[in-house]
Amino acid sequence: MQKGRILVVDDEIHMREFICEALRRRHLEVESVRDGPTALEALTQQAYDLVITDVKMPKMNGLTLLKNIKQSYAHTKVIMITAYGTIEDAVTAIRDGAFDYVQKPFAPDELMLRVEKAFEYRDLVQENANLKEQLGTRFRFENIVGTSPKMIELYETLDMVSSSKASVLIQGESGTGKELVARAIHENSPNRSGPFIKINCAALPDTLMESELFGHEKGAFTGAIKMVEGRFSLAHDGTLLLDEVSEMSPNMQAKLLRVLQEREFERLGGRETIKTNARVVATTNRDLKTMVRQEKFREDLYYRLNVCPILLPPLCERKEDIPLLANHFLQIYTKEYNRPIESIAEEALGALIHYDWPGNVRELENTIARAVVMCPEGRIGLKHLFMDEVEASPVLSFPSESKTPVTLWEIERAAIFRALQENSNNRTKTAEMLGISIRTLRNKLREYRAESVAC
Ligand SMILES: Nc1ncnc2c1ncn2[C@@H]1O[C@H](COP(=O)(O)OP(=O)(O)OP(=O)(O)O)[C@@H](O)[C@H]1O
Ligand SMILES: [Mg+2]
Repeated sequence: MQKGRILVVDDEIHMREFICEALRRRHLEVESVRDGPTALEALTQQAYDLVITDVKMPKMNGLTLLKNIKQSYAHTKVIMITAYGTIEDAVTAIRDGAFDYVQKPFAPDELMLRVEKAFEYRDLVQENANLKEQLGTRFRFENIVGTSPKMIELYETLDMVSSSKASVLIQGESGTGKELVARAIHENSPNRSGPFIKINCAALPDTLMESELFGHEKGAFTGAIKMVEGRFSLAHDGTLLLDEVSEMSPNMQAKLLRVLQEREFERLGGRETIKTNARVVATTNRDLKTMVRQEKFREDLYYRLNVCPILLPPLCERKEDIPLLANHFLQIYTKEYNRPIESIAEEALGALIHYDWPGNVRELENTIARAVVMCPEGRIGLKHLFMDEVEASPVLSFPSESKTPVTLWEIERAAIFRALQENSNNRTKTAEMLGISIRTLRNKLREYRAESVAC
């Protein structure tokens, strides 16, 4: 954790000294003032990373001070000190952008915990920003969050890929951010001033798909009452995203191949040859190479699409990004649902990190969105997270020791729980130890959970 400069604002001299002393003892750089106007004056003189302020003060109360700080110094975090039993002030403060609050009377450690969290959060955000800056000022991928080695690799690839107009194939499990990455490529490409057009190749039957991609002339088929442009035309000078490209029929695969090779096509029912310069980005959550081997996907088309391959890692392979992502979504959804939630409690964050996320970032996003809805104020706790409980809970409820396992099912269950215990609930190690796949382990745990619910 990097340290920061702290400003303490309180009209009571004893309180000011108590806080300053507690912070200095931990070698933090701290200054103090006695009221809001003086605090604002101090902020014009130099930057502070954190302001710790009382709510009830003469001249300007803490909530007004908070609003002023948030308006002019968005990066300065604010921790409020509220009087005992005044939860309304805390709620208002969090809604108005305070990072956290502490209620009087408090022990120095209680305050320190919050100060550390404020600095840690600032470091995380800073790290993400620095990393992106290091990757060059030319390309920025603001919406993509993550600082794990796999994400760094991704930013580097994106940096190279975006500047060209070559076709890109983005592969990754569902919810890993394929569409997000496709949009980022467009926004950083030479075609960025052009349109970004998307078509879902899984959703449409062949004839409709053809007309959607290439357009049709008036009278091309029953109901074609006027000429309609296809997505290839609409994406001219821009990017065309072929979502779930693996689901295209062999017939459509052949038609797509021709456009990619010759860069021209005809509308359905038309004779005119139309040129396209749309950049093609395709996504799939299937292993396209295997599909080629199984002759379910054309090899020539695969190579045409896969000029620049991008493989997005599942979230369980970059767990170090979970806190940053969770906080990113927390910011988004507290704003969207107007909820005064300040943070995610330690044990809830632990459970988020512990969980395997079969639905990847989308599942994490939905989990946080739901938690924000379910949590009226304060911190998001374990009870607000609705993940598969057996998998998510860092502490599993082990079957009681009193009964000796008899049936094969019971013996197996006991062995699995013992192995989990020995491996401190680490499922990867447990699966390895038992010689089963992580998927089998996950299914077994689900089975036990269903069983315990049924009992
Ligand atoms: N690295 C990331 N940073 C921030 N948000 C992310 C990240 N990855 C994914 N998301 C978010 O997760 C959600 C799912 O992402 P997206 O739709 O791009 O996934 P996908 O791989 O296309 O999924 P599917 O295969 O199911 O279509 C989106 O809301 C997206 O913004
Ligand atoms: Mg998608």
